[in-house]
Amino acid sequence: MAQKAAVESQKKMIDLISLCKRRGFIYQSADIYGGLQGVYDYGPLGVELKNNLKAAWWRTVVYERDDIEGLDASILTNRYVLRYSGHEATFADPLVDCRKCKARMRADHLVNGKCEKCGSNDLTEPRPFNMMFKTTVGPVVDEESYAYLRPETAQGIFTNFQNVIDSTARRLPFGIAQIGKAFRNEITPRNFIFRVREFEQMEIEFFVMPGTDEKWHKDWVEMRVDWWKKQGLAEENLELVHQKPEELAHYSKATVDILYRFPHGVEELEGIANRTDYDLGSHSKCQDELGLNAKVSNNEHSTAKLTIRDLATEKDLVPFVIEPSAGVDRGVLAVLTEAYTEEALDEGKTRIVLKLKPHLAPIKVAVIPLARNNEALVEKARSIKNMLQKLGVGRILLENSGNIGKSYRRHDEVGTPICVTVDFETIEGEGETVTIRDRDSMKQERISIADLSDYVRKFYL
Ligand code: GLY
Repeated sequence: MAQKAAVESQKKMIDLISLCKRRGFIYQSADIYGGLQGVYDYGPLGVELKNNLKAAWWRTVVYERDDIEGLDASILTNRYVLRYSGHEATFADPLVDCRKCKARMRADHLVNGKCEKCGSNDLTEPRPFNMMFKTTVGPVVDEESYAYLRPETAQGIFTNFQNVIDSTARRLPFGIAQIGKAFRNEITPRNFIFRVREFEQMEIEFFVMPGTDEKWHKDWVEMRVDWWKKQGLAEENLELVHQKPEELAHYSKATVDILYRFPHGVEELEGIANRTDYDLGSHSKCQDELGLNAKVSNNEHSTAKLTIRDLATEKDLVPFVIEPSAGVDRGVLAVLTEAYTEEALDEGKTRIVLKLKPHLAPIKVAVIPLARNNEALVEKARSIKNMLQKLGVGRILLENSGNIGKSYRRHDEVGTPICVTVDFETIEGEGETVTIRDRDSMKQERISIADLSDYVRKFYL
């Protein structure tokens, strides 16, 4: 039974990877040169899906709340930021080498202490391997000229804490949200876009009064699970786990992971950590060492005292922070996994349909002329595409690539919720009508072009 489930999961991952490449969601990076391990590119439909997921997150956490500001900080990071944050010293995975086949792997991923490639148990002792990518800044390459590609977007939020307060006059509780790339030199990238070396995060640092942190932590876990359900993830495929003390990152007092049932196993989709006052405190430490009013810096120290005034006591305090940190790529993999469906049709046929939530679908409406070489039909379809595009609901596609049956199948596979077909009745019949086909039910109905904008607007807005 368990073996059957494992085979089915493996098949699902293979089917998904194949669909992603075939239909232009996700490609191996630089595959014409044999690829770059743990790095992927998003194709024409993948970029739409990913942008839609990020936009949904931004809408929920920034626009629909009144206590979170947005930020877009740099990827290149001053090395002292990551020294004081603790990443230089502790952001490491345990690495072992196989003496027999020379493979390198994570010690904590070994099964029964054996090499995952050749099965040998002749392995070296684990040693820490720092996962940050270093690069040089400027024309001189020496001991002093390096910086890091950020391993998390969070540090850009902490280093801009004072800037954001000064420019927005925020009081506790409030948060700063950011979406952006982060980089980790994973020892063994694996499972398609799940564990990769270049990835995107959606992170919130939500600053609260010390003492209220545990309540906020609980609330954020609930809010984030709720959000993932709204992106289409089924409750039975989500799980919560409280990290054990020995699993906690160096900055965390408590972390709750939201796990999702990916094809390769139940693994982390988002982590919600109580980072206490660790980061703001660390970036203020050197100021304590220099003296509170010392606004000097030799570039090896922060000049900040990252505090906020408590209006009740008129005292400055270092707030605690709750951090919901989600992986964009893992989110894309989760919604694809959930949406991928093979449906049995009559006569032993099956159809592949991606049942994405409409707000995530890469193409919102495909407008299809019944005959690709008929100028009148194509012109009419183009004018409908242009009309619908102005609604601002997302990408509307003029699909003029072949026969109608193939077009429907293609749009089922990429998750387009609505197809609009322009036929001879549209241009010759009375009242200018088109056929609308629903992705999930495959039901078709005729409606007037005059009602089409309202139909699409109601569907998406
Ligand atoms: N900022 C938390 C993480 O990157 O895991």
